[in-house]
Amino acid sequence: MASIPVDVSGISEGTQLTVLFLGKPVFIRRRTQEEIEAARAVPLSDLKDSESRNPNSPDGEGSPATDENRALSESGEWLVMQGVCTHLGCVPLGDGAGDFGGWFCPCHGSHYDTAGRIRRGPAPQNLHVPVAEFVSDTVIQLG
Ligand code: FES
Repeated sequence: MASIPVDVSGISEGTQLTVLFLGKPVFIRRRTQEEIEAARAVPLSDLKDSESRNPNSPDGEGSPATDENRALSESGEWLVMQGVCTHLGCVPLGDGAGDFGGWFCPCHGSHYDTAGRIRRGPAPQNLHVPVAEFVSDTVIQLG
């Protein structure tokens, strides 16, 4: 399967990089402490989709949608997700968009939180996480 390295050294806290991988956008966000804390404070019972959708999680994509199971790094600093709305595939807006401070899909109004989890609107699932891992301190390999 194809894979690409992405140098994330230039991404400052509170910003994100969008790269194309296998023809689809992938968001790589370096979250602020506030974003991490906001995501970790959400009770799982508030979530519409209870699954992490993260194949990198130790227990796989069906593991609970905790922030810890969604983030790429243990500290929660890095969040990598496919930039494809799980409703009908539009590209959500980021950088704190929407009612939950994460991403907002303008096509039909889906709101995602700072962990990319669907919180309101027609999308049925959390934004999917692609296969990804850090291969050095500053390089994430997708795929
Ligand atoms: Fe995103 Fe419909 S495609 S809300």
